[in-house]
Amino acid sequence: MNEIEKLKLEKISSTYYSGEKRLSVLENVSLHVCPGEFVSVLGPSGSGKSTILKIAAGLLKPDSGKVWIDGENVTGLPQLVGYMPQQDLLFPWKTMWQNAALPLLASGVSKKEAFDHVAEMLPLFGLKGFADYYPYQLSGGMRQRAALLRTMLIDSNLMLLDEPFAALDALTREQMQDWLLGIWGNFRRSVLFVTHSIDEAIYLSDRVYVITERPGKNAIEQNIELERPRNKRILTTRDFTFYKKILINALAN
Ligand SMILES: Nc1ncnc2c1ncn2[C@@H]1O[C@H](COP(=O)(O)OP(=O)(O)OP(=O)(O)O)[C@@H](O)[C@H]1O
Ligand SMILES: [Mg+2]
Repeated sequence: MNEIEKLKLEKISSTYYSGEKRLSVLENVSLHVCPGEFVSVLGPSGSGKSTILKIAAGLLKPDSGKVWIDGENVTGLPQLVGYMPQQDLLFPWKTMWQNAALPLLASGVSKKEAFDHVAEMLPLFGLKGFADYYPYQLSGGMRQRAALLRTMLIDSNLMLLDEPFAALDALTREQMQDWLLGIWGNFRRSVLFVTHSIDEAIYLSDRVYVITERPGKNAIEQNIELERPRNKRILTTRDFTFYKKILINALAN
């Protein structure tokens, strides 16, 4: 490959220590995301998926291995990336627009400018008319979209999304997947997306990495060659089922 990867994790191993206890979580995990690519990490609960994202964001230093962003070694150095942690972390005492505007305000943009910028984005995120609502007054899907909007307003074209739809009901989740694909089509960010849903991984991704049970290791890497734009009709196609079988097998081993 000639192109420099947007993100590359090279042979990452990681251990957590809790008092005397030592827990090996990742062993020699390698993955990459090319510019504009949508890549998913699929693995069982506890396999180290969230740990992978924390390491990619530089919030956690691996025991060994390297993290590269745009060809630069940034291992263990916190990066300005669009990282959305597993729990949507909207501040309950701030309104939706104040929550969404945090990255803008943190980078020194004036309140007025930040508000205007957020307001412009609200229709796209299905949040028009809700700028002054507090998180508890929003539905689960709206909270996730607000958190995604905030992530999107971080000035970086790499997004690290940790199971952003896991807490939603099936129908809302499916709508959010289509909506995310639309947003991604507009903005063409590079995305590393964590999920434990096989269907979600296939539906969204250009490529899927399957990680084994803890300690997480690379199981397989599968290209998903389904045409884009995608819609839910592909879920019943033979190609979709073909990928599904491969991923189910990889997860079962
Ligand atoms: N700060 C921590 N200190 C000690 N152990 C931790 C810490 N964070 C995570 N772990 C342990 O590391 C393992 C992997 O955790 P991680 O959150 O990366 O898994 P995951 O694949 O994201 O799981 P899930 O699908 O449930 O979100 C788990 O066994 C967890 O208990
Ligand atoms: Mg997790």
